[in-house]
Amino acid sequence: MTVREKLARELTTARDRTLRLVDFDDAELHRQYNPLMSPLVWDLAHIGWQEELWLLRGNNPGRPGLLDPQVERCYDAFLNSRASRVDLPLLSPTEARSYCSTVRNKALDSLDTLPDDGSRIQDEFNFGLVISHENQHDETMLQALNLRTGPALLDRGAPLPPGRASVAGTSVLVPAGEFILGVDAIAEPLSLDNERSAHRVDLPAFRIGRVPVTNGEWRQFIEDGGYDQQRWWSERGWAHRRDADLRAPQFWNTSGHLAGTRTRFGHVEDIPADEPVQHVTFFEAEAYAAWAGARLPTEQEWEKACAWDPAAKARRRYPWGSSEPTTHLANLGGDSLRPAPVGAYPAGASAYGAEQMLGDVWEWTTSPLRPWPGFTPMLYEEYSAPFFDGDYKVLRGGSWAAASSTVRPSFRNWDHPIRRQIFSGVRLAWDIA
Ligand code: AVJ
Ligand code: FE
Repeated sequence: MTVREKLARELTTARDRTLRLVDFDDAELHRQYNPLMSPLVWDLAHIGWQEELWLLRGNNPGRPGLLDPQVERCYDAFLNSRASRVDLPLLSPTEARSYCSTVRNKALDSLDTLPDDGSRIQDEFNFGLVISHENQHDETMLQALNLRTGPALLDRGAPLPPGRASVAGTSVLVPAGEFILGVDAIAEPLSLDNERSAHRVDLPAFRIGRVPVTNGEWRQFIEDGGYDQQRWWSERGWAHRRDADLRAPQFWNTSGHLAGTRTRFGHVEDIPADEPVQHVTFFEAEAYAAWAGARLPTEQEWEKACAWDPAAKARRRYPWGSSEPTTHLANLGGDSLRPAPVGAYPAGASAYGAEQMLGDVWEWTTSPLRPWPGFTPMLYEEYSAPFFDGDYKVLRGGSWAAASSTVRPSFRNWDHPIRRQIFSGVRLAWDIA
């Protein structure tokens, strides 16, 4: 398959998913399920607006576009907070769908005119950015849908492979030594600005969880009084635990006592003990780790455990090697609507034996979002840089909702340490004594 064909296919895969996530009536699409999230119709038109700006207007907002300037203002994420978007004079769902499809058809026409000899690397990157942006918003839309109350709109999700219960709570050793952190444009032409450049980093030996922490393990933390004992919590974490009255992961049903059920996309169901815990804040993750006699990994440790091949002294493109992700290797793409049980992907293990590094849940790290050496902002200049000095922690690995074409061992996500509507989970790490 040529680069052009691959980009066209990924554009189409992303758009099919977007359209499935807005296949609801107009009133539904204008609803704001939670002040943390936009109405779905905003995400839809915002996806189209960024694509128009980046691919059809040369990233120059002064160049006339398809929308009235007053209307396009609504879709600038920096001018409008998420909480305020429901009150904007937004395009109707019909208008938004038609706008997005007009933009996409023009974008596909311009893709057709690109030479297929790799001489237009910058254009290919721009298409990759559009694909990544749309896929990331699709995950955001799934977060919104999960916050919706009322009878379920989505089904329970596609089947997943069975797990291996014996791997819960086990860890793998990552010996001391140098590795290469980050990627460059040669190895990963579609990597985003904050993943570059590749550089050497030396780390002491550490252990890391073979798999993420499970719901069953988290329940023990709760039953042991973990949410009530300040000693496991950081000062900020404990203050937030009190203010927000945290007692269990979000979406676990707690009315007085800890019930055995959770609500997921409107379905009330038993909490599967062997599934990675999700919907926890950084502060809860940190407290859990302290209770478990462990800590959270840094993002450098996480990336080494995921991508470094010590025998080859080289990075792998994916934890398991160079082949593209499949349903036998990782739970990605959003159709499952939940994480897979731990141990479900032995073939997806990294060189060190860590499993489920890609997919299932985003894993909190202790690292604040900072640029790698040589950071250069990309076409979308406000993607990373405005967040470098903020109160953000990096999450790694992608969730079940992340697209296989968008998440990589070097991919960096970030959020405030109090957020948990995201599909966030925990992988532990340990110093070597
Ligand atoms: C990288 C997921 C934190 O959603 O805020 C989408 C991605 N940036 N549109 C976000 C993003 C602009 C970003 N995260
Ligand atoms: Fe965006």
